[in-house]
Amino acid sequence: MEQEKLEEKALELFRQQDFRIKEKDEGLYKAVKDDTELEIRILSSEKYSMEEASELIQAGEKVFVDEGLEELKEGVGNDVSVLEEASDREYSMPSYERIGDIVVISELDDVSEDEAVEAVLEHNPGLDSILLKEENLSGEFRVGGYRKLYGDKTETVHREHGVELKVDPTEMFFSEREGTERKRIFTTVDKNDEVLVMFAGAAPFPVTIAKHSKASVTGVEKNPEAVKYAEENIRRNNVADKVQMIQGDVREICPELGKFDHVLMPSPTNALEFLGEALNCVKSGGKLVVYSVSDKEDLYRPVIEKVGEEASREGLKVDVLKRRVVADFSPSKRKVAVEFRVEE
Ligand SMILES: C[S@@+](CC[C@H](N)C(=O)[O-])C[C@H]1O[C@@H](n2cnc3c(N)ncnc32)[C@H](O)[C@@H]1O
Repeated sequence: MEQEKLEEKALELFRQQDFRIKEKDEGLYKAVKDDTELEIRILSSEKYSMEEASELIQAGEKVFVDEGLEELKEGVGNDVSVLEEASDREYSMPSYERIGDIVVISELDDVSEDEAVEAVLEHNPGLDSILLKEENLSGEFRVGGYRKLYGDKTETVHREHGVELKVDPTEMFFSEREGTERKRIFTTVDKNDEVLVMFAGAAPFPVTIAKHSKASVTGVEKNPEAVKYAEENIRRNNVADKVQMIQGDVREICPELGKFDHVLMPSPTNALEFLGEALNCVKSGGKLVVYSVSDKEDLYRPVIEKVGEEASREGLKVDVLKRRVVADFSPSKRKVAVEFRVEE
């Protein structure tokens, strides 16, 4: 394949995953997303011989070649992906989310299963498996029903903001799409703050906050499987001295925990049912972050009113500090976050 065409194809894969691309040298690029920086070397067999190509490749570079240089896969110690000429054809693409080395397809969008698998593999070299969501997230634990379309693994390690999160979407809730929100939160936590994360799941918020601040974090989660992964994530990211996970119902656990500078409620579908417990865990002058699902025409009013009512019932005063849309929930609904200052 022509060098230019191969570069276009390889770089498109990174652009689709929101990487920013910078050219460094001929055929060498830097791809940056959050805390991830990749060196990408692209080598076409029309331009380089095997010998020239192996001489150019440096340790740590992610390499893309065409079929003519396929043997480099065995010859160099780098991660080498082969892009095929035949894959030039246009694919219809289903809606999907990539979590580590697993892709979860949420909607086939009129694409056949075979076509979906081919299209996803073409755009995501090195995948372990592809899961099709057949039942929506449901129940208290917010877990969906999945069928394997490709590969066998359901467990993977997702990397974002300098942390590694081991998750299994068939056992617990995890969404890659909320990574930006996790970043927003850790940038607002002060050095020695005490933070409570209700509905902590596999601990993406606790681990990310602890990794990027000196704060101490307590996570509470009811799903025992999610807590097992949370414990592993705490160890994996060396934050055991700053994070403790408690398995149980926030309704029973939180009243025993005392008061915190920040209380987060990252469970948009049911957080509003637990406002009493949450408000009573915030130190006077501290912050409560409430997540909710709202109609896109009326994003914040219902949350602000509900928190206001609940605060007066508890004899507390709340002021809105910030509000934002976190992600889409459905065509007409959005996940939103509203931050409140809580005072006695
Ligand atoms: C939408 S998920 C969010 C998980 C995690 N915060 C994340 O961002 O990946 C909501 C989580 O709340 C947990 N949960 C639901 N009701 C709970 C309760 N009463 N007490 C503790 N955890 C609960 C669920 O098991 C689920 O893991």
